[in-house]
Amino acid sequence: MQKYKLTLSLLIFSLLPLSLLASPFVLVLSQDDLKDIPSTATDAGPAESQPEWDEFGDSDSKPEHELDPGSWRPIFEPDAVNSSTSESNFDPEMEQYYSAVEKMLSAVSDGEVGVMEESVAEIEELASAKGNLHAQSVLGFLYGSGQIKERNKAKAFLYHYFAAEGGNLQSKLAIAYTYYRQHMYEKAVKLYAELAEVAVNSFLISKYSPVIEPVRIHNGAEENKEALRKSRGEDDDVFQILEYQAQKGNAAAMYKIGYFYYFGLRGLRRDHTKALAWFSKAVEKGEPKSMELLGEIYARGAGVERNYTKALEWLTLAAKQQLYSAYNGMGYLYVKGYGVGKNYTKAKEYFKRAADNDDAGGHYNLGVIHLKGIGVKRDVKLACQYFIVAANAGQPKAFYQLAKMFHMGVGLKKNLPMAVGLYKLVAERGPWNSLSRWALESYLKGNVGKASLLYSRMAELGYEIAQSNAAWILDKYAEHSMCVGESGFCSDSERHQRAHSLWWQASEQGNEHAALLIGDAYYYGRGTERDYERAAEAYMHAKSQSNAQAMFNLGYMHEHGQGLPFDLHLAKRYYDQALEINSAAKLPVTLALTSLWIRKNYADSFMVHAIDSLPELYPRIEAWVENVVLEEGNATILTLFVCLLTVLYFRGRQRRNAGEVGIPDQPIEHAPPAPN
Ligand SMILES: *[C@@H]1O[C@H](CO)[C@@H](O)[C@H](O)[C@H]1NC(C)=O
Ligand SMILES: *[C@@H]1O[C@H](CO)[C@@H](O)[C@H](O)[C@H]1NC(C)=O
Ligand SMILES: *[C@@H]1O[C@H](CO)[C@@H](O)[C@H](O)[C@H]1NC(C)=O
Ligand SMILES: *[C@@H]1O[C@H](CO)[C@@H](O)[C@H](O)[C@H]1NC(C)=O
Repeated sequence: MQKYKLTLSLLIFSLLPLSLLASPFVLVLSQDDLKDIPSTATDAGPAESQPEWDEFGDSDSKPEHELDPGSWRPIFEPDAVNSSTSESNFDPEMEQYYSAVEKMLSAVSDGEVGVMEESVAEIEELASAKGNLHAQSVLGFLYGSGQIKERNKAKAFLYHYFAAEGGNLQSKLAIAYTYYRQHMYEKAVKLYAELAEVAVNSFLISKYSPVIEPVRIHNGAEENKEALRKSRGEDDDVFQILEYQAQKGNAAAMYKIGYFYYFGLRGLRRDHTKALAWFSKAVEKGEPKSMELLGEIYARGAGVERNYTKALEWLTLAAKQQLYSAYNGMGYLYVKGYGVGKNYTKAKEYFKRAADNDDAGGHYNLGVIHLKGIGVKRDVKLACQYFIVAANAGQPKAFYQLAKMFHMGVGLKKNLPMAVGLYKLVAERGPWNSLSRWALESYLKGNVGKASLLYSRMAELGYEIAQSNAAWILDKYAEHSMCVGESGFCSDSERHQRAHSLWWQASEQGNEHAALLIGDAYYYGRGTERDYERAAEAYMHAKSQSNAQAMFNLGYMHEHGQGLPFDLHLAKRYYDQALEINSAAKLPVTLALTSLWIRKNYADSFMVHAIDSLPELYPRIEAWVENVVLEEGNATILTLFVCLLTVLYFRGRQRRNAGEVGIPDQPIEHAPPAPN
């Protein structure tokens, strides 16, 4: 019976692409992954003893700048840091570091290469003369991307390595990503595990934090207006309407606004005071979700004096209103014995109550108590089952637990690549994630240079969205002087090369649009040598992710024997597939099929030659239209020409419009923005 249930949940799990992820990433578990160990096994692998980690965490929340030493937060959020930094932390060396980085950031905003060089010299001085590890981390970044410094992967690695050893976690992430790219999973897994733990510790204790994804500022080649609008914080109309409703006394609106401020969502600066004020107003109206968050806030002491009694009061009130997730908070207090007598039986009851009402947090917590044997018999398999359910619901902590199980081979068969993938996902939710908020803010303020630099930094840490954002900015704002090269502004080839390498990394991580752009780069010889075979490879990659455009291109290449064997049957199959995936492709596919038909039935006829010569003629279309088509009034050629023009147009339009990366099934046309 139990076995049957287990299989079922795995099946469900394997069918659902995990929505948490930026890029489609389907975790397929099979019976094979389930290790045949007795449920109560205690061995945690021979060599690696399982690091003891308190799943239920402490309620002490460290401020983010302590979790992420060397973070640029003091530059972007001086107030937030100010309020929590004691006088004794004042450190002249760090002051120098921050002033140099700030100088670098403003230099790149103003396009002042001279100032940039000065600031880099200051950073270098700090890194070498004083051995400042955060400065070393920045140098690693500059060498890695070839800004003011000669691009040098080995040097970049070395600087990051030393910075990471010294405790700079962003460098650690950069190193981990380097190992990951090279499939050195043994090394990558150690670093990612450590980073994921830091990330998990920065999450809320009992409730699960909303997943804050970096915003993809483009959808293909166009700016992603809808996503950007939603990130304008207090300037967003929708937000203003919500605020108005809240002021008029709408409790749900009060909760939402409090929630946005509490987590710093939708482009708002995180503001615990404002959040607390809104939650307090909402609870007066009996709004249960605000009660639960007040409970969390009092248990954490976030912006208020910690008071477990109050926390329990609020959670109990929320639970009474059938907000079952609140039981998790209550269970947490009983597990830790905070403000109440420690009582595992009661804690388990509460977690079960939440889980029975489909709360993912409840499943997660039940998983933990079974994993550790807290008040219950230790049962790794059962724990695993609970984690899978929670992961299905997008609980990042559950990803972390599953990653550990794959890592240690506890409950699941040891699988390092899988462990690394899951850890990476969790690690990227860590405090360094704030870089994306600052980048987006800069971008929205029109400060493209700063945004580009911040995204490049994140790109180096392995964030796929940042890689594609940075590459997109380089392509889109080509002529603007914000790309800093090895000396002075980027040359064209430097810029192309950098964009290409960023797209490449994004593509490696499953960004199909990036794969398409790579294919195009090779196909048209942009930023790299023209290479049909590599183009075909890249299109194949995008095709494997159900990209209609890539299929179309593959069909085209088969039709013309470019990079792929000349094969009209295969060409037709690709065209058909493109049509299946995207019905918007109907016209161009029909045209392409027509041209195929002509090619098959009239091999070597004039029309085939005409079709073949069109791409070469494309740049001189106007002259051709005037001189050849119009003058001679050759209707056949004219028709054919219009058809092919449409095809070429389609290829371009697709590139412009394609976007919707990761949501391949959505129609390409812009749907009206969903409310909220
Ligand atoms: C930040 O701290 C400095 C010195 O401790 C103080 O002078 C300044 O007023 C503080 N700023 C804010 C916004 O709290
Ligand atoms: C905590 O809250 C309770 C009930 O609201 C109150 O009676 C108690 O004095 C508070 N404790 C502290 C230390 O403020
Ligand atoms: C723990 O909770 C259970 C169920 O709520 C209760 O029956 C039991 O008496 C409690 N134990 C202690 C030591 O308070
Ligand atoms: C159009 O072009 C084809 C091929 O050159 C030729 O056979 C045909 O007669 C032309 N038609 C006209 C109307 O010129």
